[in-house]
Amino acid sequence: MPAEVFTAPLQRPGHLGEDWLEPKQTEYDSDDDAIWDDLFARQMEVLPGRAASAFLAGLDKLDLGRGGVPDFAAMSEDLGKLTGWSVVPVPMLIPDHVFFWHLANRRFPAGNFIRTRETFDYIQEPDVFHDVFGHVPMLTDPTFADYMQEYGKAGWKAMRYNRLKALGALYWYTVEFGLIEEADGIKAYGAGILSGPTEVVYATQAESPNRIILNVDRVMRTDYVISDLQPTYFVIESFEDLYRQTVERDFDRLYRNLPPAFTYANSAVIDVDNVVNRGTQEYLLRGGRGSGAKPV
Ligand SMILES: [Fe+2]
Repeated sequence: MPAEVFTAPLQRPGHLGEDWLEPKQTEYDSDDDAIWDDLFARQMEVLPGRAASAFLAGLDKLDLGRGGVPDFAAMSEDLGKLTGWSVVPVPMLIPDHVFFWHLANRRFPAGNFIRTRETFDYIQEPDVFHDVFGHVPMLTDPTFADYMQEYGKAGWKAMRYNRLKALGALYWYTVEFGLIEEADGIKAYGAGILSGPTEVVYATQAESPNRIILNVDRVMRTDYVISDLQPTYFVIESFEDLYRQTVERDFDRLYRNLPPAFTYANSAVIDVDNVVNRGTQEYLLRGGRGSGAKPV
C-alpha cells in the first residue's frame, strides 16, 4: 500500500467501496499465525488478575487462543449469537464517519494486517492483534456492546457540532484505556491497555498515574497522550453505569458549552474529581517513553 494512504486526510485505496471494507480477510501464513500465538501467550502472562472479568470471559467465549489469527467469519458467527455484533476487515484506520456508521450498525472494523517480528513490541497503526484481541472480547458483554453502538450513533452528532475531539477523548478513556472497579480491585477493560504487556501492569498497579472515577463531561474536556503510557485513567463502577452516563447525557447541551480545545491537561486532578488514587506522576516527570524511565 502506498505511503500516502497513511497520512491525513485518509485516501481510500482504489479497490475499496465507500464502506472501506476489504472484500475478504487477509490470508495469513504460518509466520503470521506464530506472531499471533506469541502475542497471545505474552498477554496471558500478565492479564489474569489485571484484566476485567468480562474481558477474560469474552476471550474464553470466542476461544481466541485456539491458535493462529482468528477467522473473522467464524468469530462473527459466535459473536453474533451473543450480542449481534460482527467483525469486519479493513486495511487501515478508516475515516471517522465510516467508523461511526459501522459501530452504529454493530459492526466492528478490524485491521486486516498483523505486525511483524520487527514491530512486535510497538506499532502505531492498530493491527489485527490490537483490534481483535484487544477489542472483540468486550463486545461479548451485552451492556458494553450496547455502549459501543451508542458511541457510533453519538459520532454523527459530534461531527455536526464540530466536537469530534471531545468525543474522541471519551473513546480514548473508555474503549481504549478504561479501568473498572471490581470486587477484588481495579481491572482494565480498555483495548489499548490489554493488547500490550507494559500498560496492563502500569495502569492497574503503578503509583505514577492518577485513577479517577469517570465523569463523562470531565473526560470530554481532557487531553490525552497517543504515544506513551497515560498519566491518568478513568475508572467506571460498572458497564451499566458507563452506558447510562452516556445515553442519558444531553449531548446537544454539552456540545453547545464545550470549548473547541481541551480544558484539562492529561495529568491534571481537579477539585470536582472523585479520586481513587492520586498518582505520583514519577514516570512522566522522569521523561516518559524514550527517556528510559521505568513505568512505576
Ligand atoms: Fe483500538
